[in-house]
Amino acid sequence: MSDVKPDTPEQSETLLGDDPFKGAVPGKKPTMSAGGQAAYFSCWDIHAYYGESYIVQGVSFDVREGEIVALLGRNGAGKTSTLRAIARVDDPALRHGEIWLDHQALHEMKAFQASRLGIGLVPEDRRIIQGLTVEENLQLAQIAPPVGWSIERIYDLFPRLGERRKQEGTTLSGGEQQMLAIGRTLARDVKLLLLDEPYEGLAPVIVQEIERTLEQIKKLGMTTIIVEQNAIAALHLADRAIILDMGQVVFDGVSQEVLDNADLRQQYLAI
Ligand SMILES: Nc1ncnc2c1ncn2[C@@H]1O[C@H](COP(=O)(O)OP(=O)(O)OP(=O)(O)O)[C@@H](O)[C@H]1O
Ligand SMILES: [Mg+2]
Repeated sequence: MSDVKPDTPEQSETLLGDDPFKGAVPGKKPTMSAGGQAAYFSCWDIHAYYGESYIVQGVSFDVREGEIVALLGRNGAGKTSTLRAIARVDDPALRHGEIWLDHQALHEMKAFQASRLGIGLVPEDRRIIQGLTVEENLQLAQIAPPVGWSIERIYDLFPRLGERRKQEGTTLSGGEQQMLAIGRTLARDVKLLLLDEPYEGLAPVIVQEIERTLEQIKKLGMTTIIVEQNAIAALHLADRAIILDMGQVVFDGVSQEVLDNADLRQQYLAI
């Protein structure tokens, strides 16, 4: 999965020294955007580790409300790790930095608290619960507040899910399982949707169907970060792109700039 080797313990020790973050990416603290307004979502100088493997190395970026941002980079660049750090799951451990969503400090939270506050992570493996129907998967998402979209509204967005509401979730096609994974996240009150490779393994026609749905969700005001190997598809969907390389941000700008810049794509996305 990766071509980046984790640090050896010796390297990590040197790296950590007395002050692990001395000389880390200075940047401005993006809790305030250039206009002096608080950004809707921002992570500032986040550093995250799997044990002593130093993976997310000072990542900072903002997302505006209602925007779709594509988080891109080669295999092993740190995209999944960055999403996981934002969602506050235990691994990788966030050791430095700040994460803010709608004026709330996520860096001080655990995953369940971040989820309650509106972080909706749709992991790459989709995690459809075995033995439950489509509808039961959705109902389970709503077992505790805060409840988001109604199940009928999710069926309006994904008619295929409505047609298969009594079918066991794990017997759905890959595309339908992805729809269920997204639907299940919308069933909670989501402020920031984090999608990890939603198009993975799907036929182009299904990718287009999911793209249309994500555009519809955006029109309703959803703020989204999408990680995709299918960078071209993600760039066409997204307003902005952030490119990671070896755990650091190497580009932050409008998507069109990446589409227009073949050198940048070749260097960091190998496309
Ligand atoms: N659980 C883990 N323990 C140790 N190292 C890990 C773990 N998960 C990921 N890594 C390492 O962290 C680095 C970044 O991995 P990550 O999964 O975040 O990359 P990615 O950009 O999502 O890659 P891909 O495109 O392959 O999904 C890689 O070097 C990987 O080997
Ligand atoms: Mg990944």
